Amino acid sequence: MNADVPTIALARAGRIDPDRLEEYLEAGGFQAFRRALTIEPREVFQEVINSGLQGRGGAGFPTGLKEKLTGEAICDACGPKYLVCNADEGEPGTFKDRAIMELDPHLMIEGMLISGYAIGAVRGYIYIRGEYTQSIRRVRRAVENCYREGYLGENILGSGYSLDLEIRLGAGSYLCGEELTLLESLEGKRGYPRIKPPFPAEYGLFGAPTLINNVETFTQVPYVILHGAAAYRAIGTEGSPGTKIFSVSGDVVKPRYVELPMGVTLRELIDDHCGGMLRGVPFLAAVLGGAAGTFVDASFLDTPLSFEALKERGATLGSGAVIVLGEGRRLTSILRSILEFFRHESCGKCIPCRIGTDRLVALIEEVEREADAADTTRSGGITGTVGVQSPDSDTAVSVGTSRRRQLFREMQREAEYMAATSLCPLGKSPILPLRSAIEHFLDKGL
Ligand SMILES: Cc1cc2nc3c(=O)[nH]c(=O)nc-3n(C[C@H](O)[C@H](O)[C@H](O)COP(=O)(O)O)c2cc1C
Repeated sequence: MNADVPTIALARAGRIDPDRLEEYLEAGGFQAFRRALTIEPREVFQEVINSGLQGRGGAGFPTGLKEKLTGEAICDACGPKYLVCNADEGEPGTFKDRAIMELDPHLMIEGMLISGYAIGAVRGYIYIRGEYTQSIRRVRRAVENCYREGYLGENILGSGYSLDLEIRLGAGSYLCGEELTLLESLEGKRGYPRIKPPFPAEYGLFGAPTLINNVETFTQVPYVILHGAAAYRAIGTEGSPGTKIFSVSGDVVKPRYVELPMGVTLRELIDDHCGGMLRGVPFLAAVLGGAAGTFVDASFLDTPLSFEALKERGATLGSGAVIVLGEGRRLTSILRSILEFFRHESCGKCIPCRIGTDRLVALIEEVEREADAADTTRSGGITGTVGVQSPDSDTAVSVGTSRRRQLFREMQREAEYMAATSLCPLGKSPILPLRSAIEHFLDKGL
């Protein structure tokens, strides 16, 4: 990476002992929070608005706007405003928040403090994925450090601002990472989604205005406040300022997380930062954004990884998961595991998702049976393709292919219906990987 381009979320990672607040302070920690305390809360969220920072948890919503809406929400009857850090990190292929929490947990807390000050929150929660034992340990220690040294609790640094932070653990449900379901879970209820709107900025935790941000999003805020919106905008692209941590896995020599300016290309990510394709196999596809993301083909290798450039081409950046697949991978199997994941994680509250995810798996299993039958035919075995017994193997394969197309069309219809009728974003998600896989790979033998 160009030395002039700063890292933000992982700037101190590996350089300081994450358990020691002193080392964080020596490395410039809490300067941004101190600066925030010298300006009005609305100036803080205005700076974040000007920076163009978008949420790093998947949806890419403008962070400053959420802060403004929460900060300005008026609700006398509903008690104090809340601040929530979404550290549930359940998107398959995503392992960036874990890196932040394990390597620089005080930075996330500093981002929360600045944001809490901006919206006037007095209580906050960090909702951490229960399996992340090391993250939990590190964040717990960091919270204790902050209380001990007066960076949390009553009248922080004598400023008159007070914030209490509590850690809560997730219990293994992917859906509990979805913001409204997470709030239900925090309230001690079953992890079922709420209907949106109202949005959390208006009606969040215990009915009070609530700001809920992803871990990585919080880590960007101190940089914005310390260096200013213009400096932040100088990094990344016009439509997606700042840096992003990409979680790269699959068929690359060096799977890893890496923080880079927004707008880096897939080719640069693979070749310059992950050691190239594993065993030199040609690139076949990548899944961008995890299970709820999109399949892309080689025509995307030079497309900037930014919210706007990917959106323009019908793809998603999501949480920054990049699963790289080389030639020889069977994409139908990858798609099947994604659909099985949705079936497993569907909470069952609404019928379109509960039944739909099950049906999608049944259909893709049929596609796989078709493919196996066609393979057997090609290799001279007995054909089982849709019950057609043909002495001419090419005929059987082409019948299999048209049946295959029909099955994918059925899946797409089902997923579109789910997207239109499901209660929460989980039921609306399968259409993304499905449609993109069909668009880019059906003609190439998906
Ligand atoms: C099924 C589902 C799971 C999600 N899981 C997570 C998660 O683990 N972590 C996260 O930060 N956001 C997750 N999100 C996104 C959140 O709903 C929400 O957009 C995010 O917390 C907002 O923070 P941000 O604006 O900082 O991105 C998930 C969304 C859906 C639909």
